[in-house]
Amino acid sequence: MSLSCYIHIPYCIQKCLYCDFTTFTQDKLPPPETYTSWIKQEISNRHHGIKDRNLRSIYFGGGTPSLIPPKEIASIIDYLKKYFLFHPDIEISIEVNPGTLTEKTLFLYQSAGVNRFSVGVQTFRDDLLKLFNREHSSKHTKKTLNLLMKNKAIFSTDLLFALNNQNTDDLQKDLDLLMSYCPHHISAYYLTLPAHHILQKNRPPENTQLQMFQQIESCLKAAGFDHYEISNFARGGFYSKHNLAYWLDKNYWGLGLSAHSFLKINGQRVRFWNPKNLNLYSKQVKQKSLPSPFSCLPNEQKEVLALHEAVTDFCHTALRTRWGIQTEKLNTLFGNRAYQLVLQKLKSLQAKEWIQNAGNRWRLSFSSWLISNHIFRELTFLKEELYQQ
Ligand SMILES: C[S@@+](CC[C@H](N)C(=O)[O-])C[C@H]1O[C@@H](n2cnc3c(N)ncnc32)[C@H](O)[C@@H]1O
Ligand code: SF4
Repeated sequence: MSLSCYIHIPYCIQKCLYCDFTTFTQDKLPPPETYTSWIKQEISNRHHGIKDRNLRSIYFGGGTPSLIPPKEIASIIDYLKKYFLFHPDIEISIEVNPGTLTEKTLFLYQSAGVNRFSVGVQTFRDDLLKLFNREHSSKHTKKTLNLLMKNKAIFSTDLLFALNNQNTDDLQKDLDLLMSYCPHHISAYYLTLPAHHILQKNRPPENTQLQMFQQIESCLKAAGFDHYEISNFARGGFYSKHNLAYWLDKNYWGLGLSAHSFLKINGQRVRFWNPKNLNLYSKQVKQKSLPSPFSCLPNEQKEVLALHEAVTDFCHTALRTRWGIQTEKLNTLFGNRAYQLVLQKLKSLQAKEWIQNAGNRWRLSFSSWLISNHIFRELTFLKEELYQQ
């Protein structure tokens, strides 16, 4: 088994209107050296009990990790080396905001071992970037993408769709421009907002949103991309190894403010998470955690999954991917009762043409990618349905 590590860097230049991640403008945070020293305390105090010492991926997400000095990113990578073995093909990714990367910082990241860059393009429309309160313009985005291309770096790009006053022609322009930079990977996210959010005004109607999803899928497929997860496309096999860990039932350890973890440990499946409050986080990381990384955490920050929750999680994450649910695995991991129950549910969903079946693999049919939340609800199991045998 291998381990993936997520590191949350909460620093941002601005607060974007649509963003719900735990992030702050720099003036509301301690100096980056202080924050990264907390991450190191978290590593040294909480690594006990993690059996998997082989790191498969590290992901610096945010926030804007490209905003703090590259030496801080390098120092965390080096610190992890004290406690973990790095897999020869380790993927080390960093999220980069347009306009925050230079020739020099790119070199410093690469020297530290970073080998994958994820650029928050969102859209090339300057009026929308402004509306969202983003500091950069499309000029900065193009510059950043050119820099990565010129240096033959492996990079992914985030694109948002179903935006205010956006039509399918606008989206096509974004897609065409994005394609001209030949990214290895694209994450295309439907802009998700609470019901009464200020940005809900003037969004395209539902049927156009649907059309947009189909437009993205057919455009990227024609360009040689593999649609391997609801929102993710890769060409040339450049899947995100880190994100695959989330979807393929692997262990991941989240470090930093608000970061979430999932570990299979001593026969249990445990989710645990850090607080969103900076003071509380800085206090908690000082405690030594024995015998496991979550021993020191209060009960409201951890959860041992019961069988029905573990089966539900397994189905939801696997169904997000093009490989779908492998029912044989359910049998091995959760026993025959879980296997039979899920199989029965999958067959009923297949009868509605929401799920397709090939051998022992069950996956969402194309039209269901758009209503996946509804299908996930159908595959949410109750304690009464599943009990320990
Ligand atoms: C954690 S954010 C950090 C990215 C980076 N700081 C930036 O803004 O470019 C990662 C990605 O989540 C996506 N995202 C953020 N808020 C979203 C929302 N409300 N709906 C859909 N996607 C969102 C954006 O595409 C963003 O690039
Ligand atoms: S820069 Fe990125 S992480 Fe920061 S507020 Fe904007 S979307 Fe969120």
